[in-house]
Amino acid sequence: MAATIKVSAVAITLASCSTAIEKSSLVRTGRPGDGIVGWDVSGVVETAGLGVTLFRPGDEVYGMPGFPRMVGGYAQYVAAPARHFAPKPAGLDHVQAAALPLAALTAWQALVDMAALQEGQRVLVHAAAGGVGHLAVQVAKAYGAYVIGTASAGKHEFVRGLGADEVIDYTAADFASMVSDVDVVIDPIAGDYQERSLSVLRNGGTLITLPARETEALASAAAARSIRSGFMLVEPDRRALLAITELVETGKLKVHVDAVFPLADAAKAHELGETGRTTRKLVLTVD
Ligand SMILES: NC(=O)c1ccc[n+]([C@@H]2O[C@H](COP(=O)([O-])OP(=O)(O)OC[C@H]3O[C@@H](n4cnc5c(N)ncnc54)[C@H](OP(=O)(O)O)[C@@H]3O)[C@@H](O)[C@H]2O)c1
Repeated sequence: MAATIKVSAVAITLASCSTAIEKSSLVRTGRPGDGIVGWDVSGVVETAGLGVTLFRPGDEVYGMPGFPRMVGGYAQYVAAPARHFAPKPAGLDHVQAAALPLAALTAWQALVDMAALQEGQRVLVHAAAGGVGHLAVQVAKAYGAYVIGTASAGKHEFVRGLGADEVIDYTAADFASMVSDVDVVIDPIAGDYQERSLSVLRNGGTLITLPARETEALASAAAARSIRSGFMLVEPDRRALLAITELVETGKLKVHVDAVFPLADAAKAHELGETGRTTRKLVLTVD
């Protein structure tokens, strides 16, 4: 059953993702909220629908309701299934909590669900300073992995501070000639990164591509080496949100917010995000 949340903060969703979703007829519901982007919300339960036992009005919650269907998160209220939310992590304000769900769920579902990450495995995280990347580095470390990140030199200190064991300046060197025997690659870049990432994986490893589907050629090259590869689309996931909350509350996962804008300045936030050069997350506050 649905709960209605009074939104306090909502993270921006980048154009590459939003545009693909807006173009997809599959995600149109015909209900209010269609055409309005925004999924990563943190706020207060206004009403809990009939039979909802998880929450009561006044509870502080966060989540990525409905994704990839549009629930219209850039708004004062969202209504969505109660199980798409979890209690807001203790110690986080709404801005920090709103920055978490989509990027942290992506990192968690990629590493834990798709790759079944084991302690001691080697993980390569591309765009390690970005929204997904900076959380993927920390989730991988929390599960005991050895983590290698790619980022431009100015962001190396930040990525090392997240716990990365090695950081490669992708602008100065080809990561494919510097890394080998990797168990899991998280690739938020795609293009030629897919083939180069495949080359650093051990047989039986996992290549997770976030922005695009893999080509048939790449899929067969991966299959020939028993590498699991492919596009993964994040889903609302209360179990994973609770795991993320635990990581936050035990100090293993810290979300970093780059800039905060009022909802009225959403366009400015998107202009900044669409440079593709931001570090961490951008968040809108809602009155
Ligand atoms: N499939 C899914 O479920 C899913 C979920 C979430 C996100 N995504 C997709 O994943 C992608 C990343 O999202 P995001 O929010 O993490 O992006 P983001 O925060 O905008 O990423 C920006 C970061 O990428 C780095 N970067 C850019 N080009 C790079 C390269 N060639 N090598 C290494 N780092 C590079 C930048 O660092 P420098 O300035 O140092 O270059 C910057 O720190 C987007 O395409 C998004 O749509 C997919």
